Amino acid sequence: VSAERVRVGLLGCGTVGEAAARILIANGDEIRRRAGTPVQLARVAVQDTSKARGVDLPAESWTSDAWSVVTDPDIDVVVEAIGGIDPAKALILAAFASGKPVVTANKELLSTHGQEVMDAADQAEVDFIFEASVGGGIPIIRPLKESLAGDRVTRIMGILNGTTNFILTRMSETGGSFEEALAESERLGYTELDPSADIEGYDAAAKLAILSSIAFNARVVAGDVHREGISTVSARDISAAHELGYEIKLLGVAEIQDGAITARVYPAMLPKTHPLAAVRDVFNAVFVEGEESGELMFFGRGAGGGPTGSAVVGDVVEVARNLATGGRAVGCTCAGYAKLRPQEETPVRYYVVLSVADRPGVLSEVAGVFARHEISIASVRQEGQGDQATLVAITHTASEGQHQATFANLGGLAVVKSVDSTLRVEGTDER
Ligand code: NAP
Ligand code: HSE
Repeated sequence: VSAERVRVGLLGCGTVGEAAARILIANGDEIRRRAGTPVQLARVAVQDTSKARGVDLPAESWTSDAWSVVTDPDIDVVVEAIGGIDPAKALILAAFASGKPVVTANKELLSTHGQEVMDAADQAEVDFIFEASVGGGIPIIRPLKESLAGDRVTRIMGILNGTTNFILTRMSETGGSFEEALAESERLGYTELDPSADIEGYDAAAKLAILSSIAFNARVVAGDVHREGISTVSARDISAAHELGYEIKLLGVAEIQDGAITARVYPAMLPKTHPLAAVRDVFNAVFVEGEESGELMFFGRGAGGGPTGSAVVGDVVEVARNLATGGRAVGCTCAGYAKLRPQEETPVRYYVVLSVADRPGVLSEVAGVFARHEISIASVRQEGQGDQATLVAITHTASEGQHQATFANLGGLAVVKSVDSTLRVEGTDER
């Protein structure tokens, strides 16, 4: 480290990198005071050096060779804002090998190869921090790692993807279809070129894996998370949810019970009175339950240059302070691989809609199937008549496996024309 300043090498200058660069330059005075040393953006690697960027740096600071930045002896800290696995992972490992700490927002890397990268940082005895990888500008990783270090977190429930929250909010507020809301999201530029990572829940699953690993001190990877997307949610589901006093949200839920972790992402019914039900549009929020701290909620913008860049620069300040004072950031806190409870054994509640024949005895036949699988029904009501008759039921807690077996059996009953909708119910007092 230079005696006078900490020099930053930035890899990638897209949405996140450009905002981080802008903030580092614009807030230089505050950053110097908070870090206890001046922090200088010294070099930036991009793919195309001829592109115009909103970052005021001399021409010699720019390069298309990211490797030259991570091995540059004049660079003290590397910020990785390229994204994806290749070449981001190799560049980060090379930075560690050169003795440099790294800041990243790369959820894809962390939720797949995170352990290998964290082990390499520990071995090199350098900081590796990643506040921006979950929830963009929302401080959530540092609170879990540091502020709640004295407590036991038992549950995390979050709205972890802005695009899907926008789509479900539009469906809820306009009564429109999934396709209409997706088109609006695309028009407003909220949706990635390939929206499937958002829509199918992959992005939220990656973020939930990172949060679960930290909250439960265990290694949870994206593939461990049970995942379902929102493309099957219909306008009818949303209006039925409203009638019952619920909103439908894409939730990431992770719990630890008797030493086993469950982690799942799916669209679920949430009582309108739950704080997460009020989280609209592209906003994200994470609801955390601690044994001692009780219920906590973290809310804000989960994406975009400003919020994500702010979180990245906050990490740079921590690293710079550590370099100046000889401190170290909190490293990997995972004790080992998690014992994961299979989704079939996870306790859940369901909302179920069945199209049924409208004649005596139907309700008792349907109730009999629930009873055979030892599922207690919390409420049931008939809507419509004749050909339009539907039964809407909400169950008490039973395992996912019991529910799936029930739905399969219901589909085989002569009196049930179709199982139209099945959605979990989350956020009620019942566990
Ligand atoms: P982006 O806009 O696509 O920017 C990527 C940048 O990386 C571009 O500047 C690109 O250069 C550069 N790049 C690509 N390959 C390179 C290489 N081999 N060497 C040097 N530079 C290279 O991506 P982003 O949205 O900023 O996302 C960056 C990271 O932040 C990802 O891990 C993402 O998951 C995470 N993140 C993003 C957000 C968000 O709101 N966007 C929120 C939270 C986390 P060119 O500009 O020359 O093409
Ligand atoms: N595509 C993500 C979202 C933003 O919609 O929340 C980056 O994590």
